[in-house]
Amino acid sequence: MSLQIGDAAPDFSAQTTEGKISFYEWLGDNWGILYSHPSDFTPVCTTELGRTALLKEAFEKRGAKVLAVSVDDLPSHEGWVKDINQTQQCTVNFPIIADVDRNVSTLYRMIHPNASSSVTVRSVYFIGPDKKIKATITYPASTGRNFNEILRVLDSLQLTANYSVSTPVDWEPGQDVIVSPAIKDEDIPKKFPKGYKKINAYLRYTPQPNS
Ligand code: BEZ
Repeated sequence: MSLQIGDAAPDFSAQTTEGKISFYEWLGDNWGILYSHPSDFTPVCTTELGRTALLKEAFEKRGAKVLAVSVDDLPSHEGWVKDINQTQQCTVNFPIIADVDRNVSTLYRMIHPNASSSVTVRSVYFIGPDKKIKATITYPASTGRNFNEILRVLDSLQLTANYSVSTPVDWEPGQDVIVSPAIKDEDIPKKFPKGYKKINAYLRYTPQPNS
């Protein structure tokens, strides 16, 4: 059975390119993005890890830490990081787990045996400061992830964690959001002083509260 939204994110200790880490301790009060890579020295993964390095500030601005997983060993990761830095014009600045015993991949159900029995698919886990799973995305090995979408989901999760809102179809940061149906019309002005637009009883838009 896969891990589901609302489940506790499993804690673990692992060897990484930045030393041994205990996951919960490493996360502290931050949001976490834990994502898997099928194997080292592969083209799609190389581009994804480069992009992650270049987005370090974007993740930091959101109070989020990124941790990559691949089932190859530490010397392999270290050689691969040199290639990533060279080919993606970046400096890999976040840890990559050497998950040789598949402990993390197994805990997070990142190996889908009907796709491959030996390497992971491309899983992304969004983990809240309460260490609960807030969202997951899964792609096959052949499809590189869209990091604009990963940041967009993180923005949406953080908005809904901090305000009584949700984000509508194709929402992008800066656009109007939806007021929770649990909020009564008469309570909206106090909670959402930027105003609101009522389409019907359950569809009420307000400007993004924190922009
Ligand atoms: C890649 O990262 O390019 C890749 C890895 C495993 C299977 C297919 C593609």
